[in-house]
Amino acid sequence: MTVTFDQILYGGDYNPDQWLEYPEILSEDIRLMKQARINTVSLGIFAWAMLEPEEGDYRLDWMEEIISRLYENGISVILATPSGARPHWLADRYPEVLRVNEDRTRSLFGLRHNHCYTSPAYRQKVRMINQKLAERFDSNPAVILWHISNEYGGECHCPLCQEAFRNWLREKYHTIDEVNRKWNTAFWSHTYQNFGQIESPSSIGEASIHGLYLDWRRFVSSQTADFCRWEIDSLRMAGAQKPVTTNLMYDHSPLNYHQLAEAVDIVSWDNYPDWHKRADSLTAADTGMEHDIMRSMKKQPYLMMESCPGAVNWSSVSKLKRPGVLEATSLQALAHGSDSVLYFQIRKGRGGFEKFHGAVIDHYGREDDRTYQECRRVGLGLEKLRDLRSSRVKSRAAVIFDWENRWALENAAGPRNQGMFYREAVRKSHHAFRRLGLNVDVIDMTQSLEEYKIVAAPMLYMFRAGFEQKARTFAEKGGTLILTYWSGVADEYDLTVLGGTPGGLMDVMGLRSTEIDSLYDWDSNFLVPCMNRETAELPDGKTAPAGGASSWRPENFAETYRCSRLCQLVNVTTARPLFVYGTDFYAGTPALTVNRFGEGLAYYICADAEQAFYDDVYREIAREAGLQGPLSWEIPDGVEVTSRAGSQTEYIFIQNFSGQAAAVPVNRLLSEDSSLSVLLMSSPEIPAPGVYAFSDEVKEELPPFGTLILARGRASARPAAGKV
Ligand code: GLA
Ligand code: ZN
Repeated sequence: MTVTFDQILYGGDYNPDQWLEYPEILSEDIRLMKQARINTVSLGIFAWAMLEPEEGDYRLDWMEEIISRLYENGISVILATPSGARPHWLADRYPEVLRVNEDRTRSLFGLRHNHCYTSPAYRQKVRMINQKLAERFDSNPAVILWHISNEYGGECHCPLCQEAFRNWLREKYHTIDEVNRKWNTAFWSHTYQNFGQIESPSSIGEASIHGLYLDWRRFVSSQTADFCRWEIDSLRMAGAQKPVTTNLMYDHSPLNYHQLAEAVDIVSWDNYPDWHKRADSLTAADTGMEHDIMRSMKKQPYLMMESCPGAVNWSSVSKLKRPGVLEATSLQALAHGSDSVLYFQIRKGRGGFEKFHGAVIDHYGREDDRTYQECRRVGLGLEKLRDLRSSRVKSRAAVIFDWENRWALENAAGPRNQGMFYREAVRKSHHAFRRLGLNVDVIDMTQSLEEYKIVAAPMLYMFRAGFEQKARTFAEKGGTLILTYWSGVADEYDLTVLGGTPGGLMDVMGLRSTEIDSLYDWDSNFLVPCMNRETAELPDGKTAPAGGASSWRPENFAETYRCSRLCQLVNVTTARPLFVYGTDFYAGTPALTVNRFGEGLAYYICADAEQAFYDDVYREIAREAGLQGPLSWEIPDGVEVTSRAGSQTEYIFIQNFSGQAAAVPVNRLLSEDSSLSVLLMSSPEIPAPGVYAFSDEVKEELPPFGTLILARGRASARPAAGKV
């Protein structure tokens, strides 16, 4: 099922339940929303206590009234199930809904997002309120989507959850002997005699069985997804037909999000980057990667469910977004495939934990406010981009980022317990592709590799879901496969591979990984190119063997690149070294290798190299594989190029996050390709309303945080210059 909307959704979380005693506020909010071109709000996310103030006493009229008022004014509703925070009476009457922590203490009532997903009492109460909402509101034309709960997360170690975990294990392993085998419990004499002895991992109990830890993470993910399905089923049982989503979080490693993505019709997530904390280009690139992760789970358009119009209030330092950043970050979501720009929140609350969290409408309450004006400007821009919705981001390059691999890798008690930097390794590959203007999918090991030309699988410590076979076939049929250090070391139970690594792919890579050197934070080594040379000379007077034939030229690389943290040593069989280590006892041994396998190529990166190494190496790999970005242009640092393909038009976003003006050869690009036209340009330097369409006199410079959108193949290419 692909979920489509008839406009780009613009708006966000709205909490009129906090303002029921101020009827004038709703009228004023509607006026301001319309003026800002807001067309959608999410309602009822934390309204359970207003919807059911006493057990069984459902009060939905106020909600109906608000929904009607909004709809009359052209504002649609994403309606939430309220399970993210429960009313007091529920916890008082059914204490089993309160979570038990890993140290086996039960929480008191308070906060939110902290209920037991197993508790039959919680499930029953959620079912009832969800059904009431579905019966009353699903057929309301204002309601376009269900927002299931809010940011599922955390875990519960109560007796109900322990029993559910044991049942989950029984179903998976059938016998306790099999559990012992797969978890290698003979180690330290931790052999289980029966399922009843199994307890979830705990700091006061079992923390040394990695298979237990992995299965616990899998169980928590599947129990959370099961709870989400329970909520959805409740709506469906009451006749609901509208699509459903649940909002996911940035880089949330404890839950395998692929399982939640499977449960819903459309993926959505909450995007809160720390702008201006480090170089904005890095923040933009990392945010872009998170968008790619979210899109790639279903490979369909998704929603940015939350983002902050101003500054958040929960950061250690909540810095204001500089002018233009809101627009740039909103358009970035669109570029990566989102069909919405939604905020938390429309109106700033008066009290409680989030009273200072940025909002479209400030406590001040009027439109002559910088944040409000920026929101309005975004709204005006999005109106012009309506045709982009439902278009697809198509990628020929993919990077694997696998939740289960991350759990195993980070818990394994391995070469570097003070940080393996998995996400960073993924990010380096991702960014190297993005610098070439390539769209990139970020997938997990269960997904197909077939549609890609290049697949990078950094630090895939664990091979699962038949990855070895998929990777082998992929290379055999002509794909370019990139693996790195610390790959193919363990299986899905975290049992190590016997007989050499990367397990099952040694012939594909043409090498065997022998030892891995862990470096202290202050240590480093370096990598030296050796391709097409008789011998590579190393600074300490040693020489390394020639790298053999390759279309690569040493002059396209720096003389050395720094590497740190992890250095894998390898013995090559059929692979050719392209780089060697520069120093230490393994100086001169391979550090980057390539192997021809079937119709394809398999690269192995041995060390945690600096970004520049990835950039330069991936540029050559992409060239060799014939992959190019959508424009014939060497993209300056900090400028992002992303494209979405509609049925007849390709939309190419050029966004400048570099912090300085960037030259964009628009006129050359337009003259070389007559199907290309300028669709939109926006930047902080262009005064409100902020969005201009123009063609002939295009300035060849994009200011910081400026966005230029080109269209390829539009019927009416080359619109007239000027304001629209
Ligand atoms: C999360 C939640 C919201 C709100 C915002 C604040 O994303 O889903 O309810 O608390 O954070 O940034
Ligand atoms: Zn529980």
